[in-house]
This record gives sequence, structure tokens and C-alpha cells, in this order.
Amino acid sequence: MRAALAHLNLAVVYYLDTVGSTNDYARQLAESGAADGTLVVADEQTRGRGRLDRRWLTPAGSALAFSLVLRPSPAEIERVGLFAPLCGVAVCAALRLEFGLAAEVKWPNDVLLERRKTCGVLVEAHWLGATLQSVIAGIGVNVARASVPPPGALLFPATCVEEQVGRPVARESLLAAVLAAFGSWRSRLGSPAFLETWESWLAFKGEMVNVESAAGILSGRVLGVTPDGSLRLQTAFGSEQAVSVGDVRLRPAD
Ligand code: BTN
Repeated sequence: MRAALAHLNLAVVYYLDTVGSTNDYARQLAESGAADGTLVVADEQTRGRGRLDRRWLTPAGSALAFSLVLRPSPAEIERVGLFAPLCGVAVCAALRLEFGLAAEVKWPNDVLLERRKTCGVLVEAHWLGATLQSVIAGIGVNVARASVPPPGALLFPATCVEEQVGRPVARESLLAAVLAAFGSWRSRLGSPAFLETWESWLAFKGEMVNVESAAGILSGRVLGVTPDGSLRLQTAFGSEQAVSVGDVRLRPAD
């Protein structure tokens, strides 16, 4: 692990055999002043957290589970909503480059292989009043079959990297590739190249989807993304509607 990460510009790396949640651990480090680029990576999580208070399983020896402490610059604070898609784009880039897989981003940030979820992202921003203290970017990738939850426990079908490549995958190399892509795309966060790449890897583009939120279900055809990270949909009435980043669930329409 140390060797695989040596060439990356990381502040400090915490490698843990087991932890409750790498996001929680990283947050504590951030509160104690940890620098931008501090990485927490764990072999096993016992209380891994997903979006919307869901659980995220990370059995030992089977997955990638890590969190980065970020201290966004003023320019990045303007685009803080793009950190979650940045994580998805970085994982997609790594899976494409390392394994030639046609990885896609299910808006806003899940990564799909063959339309099944392979990676989840939990980005948490911590504010003190109006001042952004830190952003914790947490990424979980299903690598081996043991990391894929049983179908009954899933809201969306899931797979893992090894099932798609058909051979064992070294987690440390995948981690290094994701972190390299993260650094590279972070320096272009919100740029036309970033938005074009995210859009070109967007799952269900041109297809009908349902977007579920507290406000109800909106159906439409996926057109792309807006510069602020919203999803562009063409509704049944032909008009274009932007769905902003929030508590939404997107699934292909039946
Ligand atoms: C989701 O799809 O709901 C998001 C899952 C995010 C899981 C990762 S694993 C590393 C980090 N630590 C956590 O507790 N959660 C994130």
C-alpha cells in the first residue's frame, strides 16, 4: 500500500485494519487540524455509512473504503457541490484506465459497471457558521464478491470489479489509480473538460429515467449535466428541466 501510494501528493495516510466509518475517522482528524490530502483507508468498516442514513457494508479483505480530508480553496468552495461527482468521475477514470471497463456515473456520483452499482460516494461538508471547515470525501468500491450485498438488501442491483474483470484485483493499485485521477480532475473541477467527461460517462444518457425525491417522481430523458452539477432532463412535455443535487434517486424507467 505504501509503495503504491508513494508517488501521490498525500499529506498523511492512516491505514486501519478495522474502523467504524472512515468518514467519521477522517472528520475527527479534520477537527484536530488534519491537512488537505490526509487519507484514511480501512480494510473493514463496522459502521460504514451510505447516503440517506443507509448502511454501507465493507467486509474485511473485499473492498476499497477510504476517505480524504479536503480543505477546499475559495474557488473550490464556489463549486463544493461538484466534489461528489468528482469522486464518481475519479473512480470511473481509474476503472476505465486500469481495466478498460466501460464504467459509468449514475448521476450524481454512483459508479456503475454493466448498469450495476460498484461504487458509492458519501461527501460531507462541515461548516462553522458560514465558514467551510473541511470536506470529507468518502468512497467505497466493491472489489471482490464478498463486498456485494445480497440482492434482497439492495435498492439498486450491484456488482464488483472482480466480477467484471474476471480475475483478482489488487486493491492498492486501484486505490492509487483513483487517487491519481481524483487529483488530476480536482485541479479542473467545474471546467468544461470536467463537465464534458462527466457527461460523456453519464449512465442512461438519452434514456427515460425516474428521479425520485421528497417532492415526488419526475420522469424524463437524460440529456446531460449543467455547470452547477444538476441533471438535465427532457420532460414528457418536451421542456428541459434541471434537477439539482439533493436527496434524489435515479432509476431507469420500466
Ligand atoms: C452510498 O452509495 O450510499 C454511499 C456509500 C459510501 C461508502 C463509503 S465507504 C468509505 C466511506 N466511509 C463511510 O462510512 N462511507 C463512505
